[in-house]
Amino acid sequence: MTKKFHLGWFMNFTPDDWDTAWAAPDVPKWATGRFYVDMARSMERACFDYIMIEDTVMVADAYGGTMEGSLKNAVFAPKQDPVPLAVLLAANTTRLGVVATMSTSFYPPYLLARLCSTVDSISEGRFGWNIVSSAEDRAAQNFGLDGLPEHDERYNVADEYFDVVNRLWDSWEPDAVVMDRETHTYADYTKVHTVDFDGKYFKSRGPLNTIPSPQHKPTFVQAGASPRGRAFAARAADSIIAIGNGVASMKAYRDDIRARMSAIGRDADHCKVLFVVSPIVAPTEAEARAAAQRIVDHPSYIEQSLAGLSSNTEIDFKQFDLDEPLPEGLTTNGERGSLEWFMRGDGSPGPKTLRQLVMQRAARGLELVGTPQQVAARMGEVMEEIGGDGFLITRPGHYISRPYISSITDGLVPELQRMGLSRTEYTQPTLRETLREF
Ligand SMILES: Cc1cc2nc3c(=O)[nH]c(=O)nc-3n(C[C@H](O)[C@H](O)[C@H](O)COP(=O)(O)O)c2cc1C
Repeated sequence: MTKKFHLGWFMNFTPDDWDTAWAAPDVPKWATGRFYVDMARSMERACFDYIMIEDTVMVADAYGGTMEGSLKNAVFAPKQDPVPLAVLLAANTTRLGVVATMSTSFYPPYLLARLCSTVDSISEGRFGWNIVSSAEDRAAQNFGLDGLPEHDERYNVADEYFDVVNRLWDSWEPDAVVMDRETHTYADYTKVHTVDFDGKYFKSRGPLNTIPSPQHKPTFVQAGASPRGRAFAARAADSIIAIGNGVASMKAYRDDIRARMSAIGRDADHCKVLFVVSPIVAPTEAEARAAAQRIVDHPSYIEQSLAGLSSNTEIDFKQFDLDEPLPEGLTTNGERGSLEWFMRGDGSPGPKTLRQLVMQRAARGLELVGTPQQVAARMGEVMEEIGGDGFLITRPGHYISRPYISSITDGLVPELQRMGLSRTEYTQPTLRETLREF
């Protein structure tokens, strides 16, 4: 029997397509979030498990040592706050999960626990938190710090952060709200407890001042790629979002996460690993190939890609010759796993020039270009090889457009559904339960 897989969508709250033939007439109003409301409704029609909003909190200047690369190309900046958008998307949908990114390096734990609880109540149990520890000294400097702690130490901090926010979510017993009209008692104070957390990095008295939300705690999403990041993700995540370099590396990643979960006593089926892909579908394979080519032919494609990579590694990629391999030993205190993923290209052996790596990056580790039937069949094959659990779709190139969204939700997904590969209805009340349904 064919095994169903999960679908998610990964987006940035940044301007949508504004400088190609498909630029939306309402693009100057992108910051109202209405474009993304349309998008979330399309995701819900196509029965996606969740839409995920990424976040970083700075204007990068690593590329060429100026903010030009970021601002000229709108790469990661400007970017609006994900949490109010998550509320707007939740208020305009009824079943879709909505995930927002917040950093353990910058949000005080009490503030984050309270926000997550509030949005989970507003969304009636559909909220998720993408747990990141952030990667940029430039972001740290916006919060009064000189820079971020060392890469692995950030995950030590995140581990303790995860403990304190969980204690806060547990500070109300599930039946603490009694609303007893006879005794005029709203909440039973004996069921609400201080947490008195006093750790190495954080201190919080508690209890939370919000009522328990439908999920009690948000669904946890994470993207650890380095060994330390994977250890954290295996401990915490209900869903991991990952990028691979070919099918074998995706399978190896998922096997590793499942082994790590079993080793610490978690049920490996309680975390769904979704792999980032950007399928390109069209009525004929030739049209799909032409569309894929148009994306890399955009005059700013290379600069946009490298400005983005410079942003989350804080390495100046403008300094390197496009037609030479990258220097040996390049590393970062930022997104280490993402840098290593980029440098592996399509996973084939042998040295690659920077230009080749940028072009190989376009396929995001798995080329899916063709008719809806071809791409759906390939996604089914790949999932069977990897073993599960699904895909996280994101735009190819740098801008999202309504035609692209529709090609997926009204072209590719109906084909996946006909093949029995993706969800055709929501049956569960909360995002966590939706993820665990199969
Ligand atoms: C699909 C995906 C989305 C991500 N979204 C964010 C984000 O919104 N904000 C952020 O600071 N990092 C984000 N990251 C980076 C991860 O949190 C992580 O730093 C990265 O995968 C590298 O792993 P490592 O930290 O273990 O080196 C994302 C990574 C992936 C693969």
